[in-house]
Amino acid sequence: MCGIMGYVGPQEAAPILVDGLRRLEYRGYDSAGIAVSNGSIQVRKARGKIANLESLLESEPTGGSIGIGHTRWATHGAPTDANAHPHTDPSGEFVVVHNGIIENFQSLKQQLLDDGAEFASETDSEILAHLVAREYDGDLVAAVRRTVALSEGAYAMVAMTKREPGKIVAVRKISPLVVGLGDGETFLASDIPAVLHHTRDFMVIEDDELVIVTDEGATVETIDGAPVDREVVRIDWDAEQAEKGGYEHFMLKEIHEQPAVVTETLASRLEDGTVWLEDVGFDDEYAADIGRVWITACGTAYHAGLIGQEIFRRVLRLPANVEYAHELRYADPIIGPNELTIAISQSGETADTLAAARLAVDKGSRMLAITNVVGSTLSRYADDILYTRAGPEISVASTKAYMAMLIAQYLLALRIGAARGTVDSELAAKVSHGLHLMPGALEEVLSREAEAEKAAHLVTDAEDMYFIGRGLDYAIAMEGSLKLKEISYLHSEAMPAGELKHGTLALITDDVPVVVILTQRDVYDKTISAVQEVKARGGRIIAVAYDSDAEIAAHADVVLRIPDMEDLLAPVAAVVPLQLLAYHVARLRGHDIDQPRNLAKSVTVE
Ligand code: F6R
Repeated sequence: MCGIMGYVGPQEAAPILVDGLRRLEYRGYDSAGIAVSNGSIQVRKARGKIANLESLLESEPTGGSIGIGHTRWATHGAPTDANAHPHTDPSGEFVVVHNGIIENFQSLKQQLLDDGAEFASETDSEILAHLVAREYDGDLVAAVRRTVALSEGAYAMVAMTKREPGKIVAVRKISPLVVGLGDGETFLASDIPAVLHHTRDFMVIEDDELVIVTDEGATVETIDGAPVDREVVRIDWDAEQAEKGGYEHFMLKEIHEQPAVVTETLASRLEDGTVWLEDVGFDDEYAADIGRVWITACGTAYHAGLIGQEIFRRVLRLPANVEYAHELRYADPIIGPNELTIAISQSGETADTLAAARLAVDKGSRMLAITNVVGSTLSRYADDILYTRAGPEISVASTKAYMAMLIAQYLLALRIGAARGTVDSELAAKVSHGLHLMPGALEEVLSREAEAEKAAHLVTDAEDMYFIGRGLDYAIAMEGSLKLKEISYLHSEAMPAGELKHGTLALITDDVPVVVILTQRDVYDKTISAVQEVKARGGRIIAVAYDSDAEIAAHADVVLRIPDMEDLLAPVAAVVPLQLLAYHVARLRGHDIDQPRNLAKSVTVE
């Protein structure tokens, strides 16, 4: 996730672009840059936060009233000055900024290299500048069109050339893009809040559309050149709402970003059932030889690891243990050299996870980091890295980063399973297909938010609450319970459904809410027995179940439905209603949802 900007108008472009980038910084902040056209193309870019770009502009100002800008969240290539956007072709006459991933960039880059091209960065984005320059025959719009036809993936890009001063051309292919219409000036941005203080009139660009911006305004066309008559919408959000994209809290915004996060985390990594993991360096021989997988993490990342453990054990038949990092580091574990340690951390800075990962490395284990932050300490220790591409997560309660951790582990399991030959090919094909369908399934779950809100009303006044499930459903119960605790301050426990009768049932009395997750068909009947034990004691049941589950309505007070899918993938969808439940309970209880008491986003102390 990166942020992009564009400006055409009578004012100095640089301050407007920088201001917009600052407002887009939540989308990424490991480098930033602008390009301003003024007879020539002047590019200024710097690693780190926008402040570094501002300092650079103080010493090396640009002049000109047309420009493009970018704030980066690294995906291909480390956060360096060279990898920062904008990128130019070697002549410096064509310049682009880009948000998203070019899935076929390796093959495009190879073609360009074969033709003698030289690259200044490690990014996929730079090839767009080369392609626009190569395809240019006097018409920037046509060159951009041909470039887009060659470049697969989900992205948005903005291009400009010295040869056609006064014009910028932008394209949306899934990644967001809006046009702000001011008085004699036009803005392009990844989202509305970036330029809302300049104008309230917007055109929201849709997939496979192209926008041409000149001093006469903006023209929208389909990527094939058909004219589009796009309605102008007037936005009446206040400044605070705008920062949260119109949502009341960052947490809700991030919950709703999850379909896009799945798309980004999968992009260019899963094609025709084959997995490509760019920073995972081990070969098939190593993968085939792994004797055991250790997964270590804390909190929500640990809960993601519980899902990984189940997948490795059940599907790959590979011994796997997930351990809390703060336990593992003091447990003197028997970790051998042919064992793979997977450390999972959104921030890549959690002190306990770093220590456990270090310990595993010292014991001779290969260490693979699953992390959301490029260049984080964990990524620097790691032999292999699988970056989740969730973008910056602002809410302390993690949602979209957890989602991306799940997707990363499915990819890893498919990769290792293929090398070991232990995954049934039919199942692998179903999982690959199911992953591709997941963004749509998540949209469907999110469209049913009202049901989660209804369930929240059943819970708001409770003092204690329980989450139960078996197997993968138990792992989701753990995460649902933690989400609820941390933002609603309601006491909650998660346990395997079969464990309830061994003690906790004594606490189930009239109206005590129990959330049951029922996505694992092989243990469905067993879990229903636990539901009946709860009902017999007067407890209230909130169930998470498939659309096709006709039986559960007879037992449950509320059913939070998810579309039918492979049981193995169900955790990805089943967690969403639980995130929404936690959110709505906390909202009804009037809490500070994005910054819950006593908690910090990154726990860098032991
Ligand atoms: C809960 C939450 C925490 C983190 C934990 C690990 O919503 O966010 O439990 O998951 O502190 O953080 P990372 O993933 O940064 O290592």
